[in-house]
Amino acid sequence: MKVLIVGGGGREHAIAWKAAQSPRVEKLYCAPGNAGIAEVAECVNIGVMEFDKLVAFAREKEIDLTVVAPDDPLAAGAVDAFEAAGLRAFGPRANAAILEGSKAFSKDLMKKYGIPTAAYETFDSAEAALAYLESAPMPIVLKADGLALGKGVLICNTLEEAKAGVQTLMLDKQFGDAGNRIVVEEFMTGREVSVLSFVDGKTIRIMTSAQDHKRAKDGDQGLNTGGMGTFSPSPFYTEEIDAFCREHIYQPTVDAMRAEGREFKGVIFFGLMLTAGGPKVLEYNARFGDPETQVVLPRMKNDIIDVFEACIDGTLDQIELEFEDNAAVCVVLASDGYPEHYEKGFVISGLEKFKDADGYYVFHAGSKFDVDGNIITNGGRVLGVTATGADLKTARANAYAATEWVTFGNKYMRHDIGKAIDEA
Ligand code: AMP
Ligand code: GLY
Repeated sequence: MKVLIVGGGGREHAIAWKAAQSPRVEKLYCAPGNAGIAEVAECVNIGVMEFDKLVAFAREKEIDLTVVAPDDPLAAGAVDAFEAAGLRAFGPRANAAILEGSKAFSKDLMKKYGIPTAAYETFDSAEAALAYLESAPMPIVLKADGLALGKGVLICNTLEEAKAGVQTLMLDKQFGDAGNRIVVEEFMTGREVSVLSFVDGKTIRIMTSAQDHKRAKDGDQGLNTGGMGTFSPSPFYTEEIDAFCREHIYQPTVDAMRAEGREFKGVIFFGLMLTAGGPKVLEYNARFGDPETQVVLPRMKNDIIDVFEACIDGTLDQIELEFEDNAAVCVVLASDGYPEHYEKGFVISGLEKFKDADGYYVFHAGSKFDVDGNIITNGGRVLGVTATGADLKTARANAYAATEWVTFGNKYMRHDIGKAIDEA
């Protein structure tokens, strides 16, 4: 069959790499893709929000299955656009992608259906939010309602910081209309875990756990980023926690969406905090995580095309997900200065070393070909170097060793990805 993947980052490279292994795939396309994805798929120069062009391309090439990976096109109805044209697409429709697209929606859903999460209030006006904050306990968390590239969350330690946060989100509109409404949330403490799952509307199948590192600098200092590295599984995600989450969080979320007339088909990514009072939902994402996917898919044994199709067809109950009994670590190689100001256009060398190294992967996040055919840096996050190993410590040592194989101008990485492993 012919498959099209929509997106062009490290997550999409991991999905494309996995899809390319399926014996069922005869031709793989990716729009827009990147220089790494070009090794496993034919890249097509169409943007992820150009639905008309994407649908026309899928028709012309007789694509059998399109996988929409990023949050923006999902929230804006990319899957609806494909379905309206009679084409098969993997991912939630817009009315279900709202699970990520509106934090106010997801908080109200959790409250209505008794799914554990932080206490919160929603505000449409800055005046009301400011009045509420005067007597609220600190620290407190402010979240822009809409999509803000994972950056619309402010942790405020004092009333002054919280007031400044309302100014930033609602009045200065740093994240545009995403900040027209905000959620003000109780501050929670605990370890964070990312859990990815496949959902077919009724049945949910958990992939495996992972942990991200969102801050730019070692020791969780610096600004929030898209993610600087991951490991999987999380040693803190025990069987007891898993059992609790299946009963109180995972299936209830799927059932709640169905009860609301918003049947969810696709990937639900549960951002959890393991608090003293039990696991609670920090956030939902309606898609694969980046860079969680880069450690989860290399451990997955199933043919991912079978799983995508089961989600669309509502037959996920007939599939058991299988994962290797190993571990994986991904270290992101970024451009120095990310997530603020950074330069692009440096030649990347050393990539060929990954070709013959079993258990080592380099997933491209921001790369492209220059006019001479060299692969050059083209983004803040440039590469995700993933390695597997028998256990987390081995995987981490392997991943860091492999980060040395690659060189490019202004190469930057965190040196403490997976530090939490030592505390397990
Ligand atoms: P989110 O995009 O909602 O996952 O938030 C980004 C990050 O902010 C999370 O990964 C947490 O580290 C932190 N965060 C979000 N909500 C809370 C909360 N209620 N209490 C403490 N930290 C939070
Ligand atoms: N790594 C977090 C995310 O994909 O949102």
